[in-house]
Amino acid sequence: MSGPGRISRRTLLAGVLGATGAATLGIVAGCGRTASTDQTAVLLPSATPLPERFTVPFAVPPVKRPIAREAGLTTYDIVQRTAWAEILPGLSTEIMGYDGLLPGPTIRARRGERVRITHRNRLTVPTVVHLHGGHTPADSDGYPIDLVLPEIEGGAHHGGLHTDETGVITKGSRTYDYPNDQPAATLWYHDHRMDFTGPQVWRGLAGLHLITDEVEEALDLPGGDRDIPLMIMDRSFGADGSLRYPALDPELADPPGVYGDYVAGVLGDVILVNGRPWPELEVDAVRYRFRIVNASNARRYRLALDPPPPSGPSFVQIGSDGGLLDAPVGHDTIQLAAAERFDVVVDFGAYPVGTAITVTNALGVGSTDAVLRFRVVRAARETSRVPARLAEIEPLVPAPGATVREWRFSRGGAGGPAHWVINGLAFDPSRMDARPRLGEVEIWRFQTDLHHPVHVHLSPFQVRRRGNRGPGEWDRGWKDTIDLAPLETAEVAIRFDDHAGRFLLHCHNLEHEDMMMMSAFETVR
Ligand code: C2O
Ligand code: CU
Repeated sequence: MSGPGRISRRTLLAGVLGATGAATLGIVAGCGRTASTDQTAVLLPSATPLPERFTVPFAVPPVKRPIAREAGLTTYDIVQRTAWAEILPGLSTEIMGYDGLLPGPTIRARRGERVRITHRNRLTVPTVVHLHGGHTPADSDGYPIDLVLPEIEGGAHHGGLHTDETGVITKGSRTYDYPNDQPAATLWYHDHRMDFTGPQVWRGLAGLHLITDEVEEALDLPGGDRDIPLMIMDRSFGADGSLRYPALDPELADPPGVYGDYVAGVLGDVILVNGRPWPELEVDAVRYRFRIVNASNARRYRLALDPPPPSGPSFVQIGSDGGLLDAPVGHDTIQLAAAERFDVVVDFGAYPVGTAITVTNALGVGSTDAVLRFRVVRAARETSRVPARLAEIEPLVPAPGATVREWRFSRGGAGGPAHWVINGLAFDPSRMDARPRLGEVEIWRFQTDLHHPVHVHLSPFQVRRRGNRGPGEWDRGWKDTIDLAPLETAEVAIRFDDHAGRFLLHCHNLEHEDMMMMSAFETVR
């Protein structure tokens, strides 16, 4: 086990070999058990026998009930607390959850409905709430040093590296305001505490936040019980059912970070969908909408249906991170990195009643090579459709001479907890690395050494190119996270609107994020 001040040999090796090409990275990006060129992360195996897959019934996270709804403002109260959950059959697992749930309760809002959520911290660690994909004012965006300290006395001190005076620290609770002034989309909220996001999301601090609007409602897409989130997370469990995580300090106080090779990212061997291991969902032989959210710390997936439908594509993608596409697009596989979302329609009407259909994961091995199973149990009348036109998407066109910014994601130098850096610099919450002007389209270029899912807060972007090609198969629509492969470059167009203040750009491999792969920028008028 190496301390936070040492860079692990394997990570170091990754950088050295990185220059020789992506093909060699499997040796270093995975350990013996997961050797793979597809993940920059290392498997932490469970110490308990894994349950048989596709035996646990599927569940949908509950929708949160507001405490008040008046004049366009809806108010909620969420308690962050520990709870015991039966995740693996017969074992009890202590989690940290919003309202004690994993995932947390789902917030549903209409476009333009202001939502005010008071989060109460009844945990023993500081927390920060971020609405991922939200077009949110800076003071509610969950800047990582805007800590909410535990309500109870004697909680862990807010250890870590950056607790400078520029953070707005509250004790016990904090109220976040979400204007939801953005198109219908599948968003999610999760912890964003400085230095400790990885372990706190791993323990359960993540939930869905869904926005709808008139455009979406006019489309007759599958709705109601046939509009289903699939929040996918990999986890590992100890022999006693506890969540395993390689934190240097299991109390999550000091020091931050993970030991050994896990600085590359932590992979679990149990795949949870909405908090259930490899569940089975019974479906009618009609179309369903699935909102796929990769809420894993570091794991990438390539999903397919087995068997595929006798004709037509397995998935009809209707939306991406930031909302609906302009037109549906068929895929036989969906590849997604941490934090990406794909809204897809699957037509079970193409299968005979009685068929079991497995959602496989070509980037997983052994237990992680599948995610969940559908079972077509009855015929039903089809009431939905997938129209040829979905939403209007305004193309972001940079003006001649538009600002171009370059962001290089790479391993950090030797020494210190900065295992991962952007443009050679470790995150410093008081240093603004860019000052984009609100309302102006800019060109941002990302460049990687290993896999880095790059995420930008505040506003979504449109992918213009990957390397010297156009956008990739899974890059359509409004994106807020882009899955970048080793030694890849990508160019996106981005425009920040409305909210002046400081926001973040970071790698959404949460171990990379915690180990300094973040950058702050300030939007200005
Ligand atoms: Cu999903 Cu800055 O985060
Ligand atoms: Cu990364």
